[in-house]
Amino acid sequence: MRELKVFAVVVIVTLITYWGVEPFAHSQMHPHIDAPDYLYSDVDGLKGIVGNAEAGAELVAANCTACHSIESQGFPKIMDNATAAASYGVVPPDLGSAGKLYDANYLAAFIKDPVTASKLAHVYTGEKAHPMPAYNWMSDEEIANIVAYLQSIAPAEMSNKEVFTNACSRCHGIKYADMMGGSMAAQTPKADIKAYMGKLPPDLSQYIKSRGENYLHEFINDPQKHLHGTAMPRVGLTKASEDQVVAYMTEVGDSKKAERNSTGLNVLAYLVIFAIFAWLWKAKIWREVH
Ligand code: HEC
Ligand code: HEC
Repeated sequence: MRELKVFAVVVIVTLITYWGVEPFAHSQMHPHIDAPDYLYSDVDGLKGIVGNAEAGAELVAANCTACHSIESQGFPKIMDNATAAASYGVVPPDLGSAGKLYDANYLAAFIKDPVTASKLAHVYTGEKAHPMPAYNWMSDEEIANIVAYLQSIAPAEMSNKEVFTNACSRCHGIKYADMMGGSMAAQTPKADIKAYMGKLPPDLSQYIKSRGENYLHEFINDPQKHLHGTAMPRVGLTKASEDQVVAYMTEVGDSKKAERNSTGLNVLAYLVIFAIFAWLWKAKIWREVH
């Protein structure tokens, strides 16, 4: 009887300690994060205006192609990556796929005001200017025309690798994707991107393992949620593009995931069958004893 009482006391004290400490520690180490918002409901977007792609083509040719290439439409790169990085701090992305990668409302808001849309007001406080000018002097119709044009030239299908390259590679390398050729190195040379961002963007080869899928989705959708004050811009990907980016990071960093999951199922099946045999064997031995 005494042992039982001691046992009960130990159990109660353990439970109290557990409930007192664990949820508290959890709330401190993993504060609640709102789910990703793929509607980008905070931005000053298209306001429901449907643009005209032809008018947009002229605006893009006149305003954007001095910095951005659009190879698929015959606007080549004006500078090589090293020169572009030296001029702007970061290599401006080719705009051929922007209409597919980015949410249309986000894209409109980014063109109007890159700093606010990408949530970097704490970085560009006035002394330092964003390398891309804000086109807030354009009318909402003109911005909508640009978005319509970018959507009209975007490819219908892109591989996971292409989505990653166009959305992330100007800042991040993913060297496990290509250990030999180095073609998946960041497009902007290290010294330039470090000076531009204040910090070297990490190589993303292993982030699927160290952070996991959920974190990556929350982070890419809005970096400020997890790293408050970070210089990484919110890039404004659609849900489909973000899924492709994370799928690519899984292919590169955790290529055995599918195999591991199916092995896990096989092991469970084996254990169940083994347990049945063990039980039958035990039953047989006891039958003989009695
Ligand atoms: C003076 C050079 C310059 C001009 C002109 C310019 N951009 Fe940019 N743009 C940049 C740079 C540099 C970046 C990359 C900024 C970064 O990643 O921090 C960029 C980024 C972008 C992005 C990527 C957004 C994202 O979420 O990642 C889009 C889309 C874009 N520009 C569209 C345009 C359009 C459309 C125009 C014309 C209306 C334009 N840009 C004009 C320099 C320019
Ligand atoms: C304009 C440059 C830029 C672009 C574009 C960019 N990043 Fe980043 N990223 C950074 C910088 C800088 C950091 C380091 C942030 C810090 O530690 O404050 C970072 C950090 C990260 C991290 C690490 C987060 C952590 O918990 O430490 C991940 C994951 C990441 N980026 C993913 C992406 C993905 C995926 C894309 C493309 C969709 C992307 N980034 C686009 C600049 C960029």
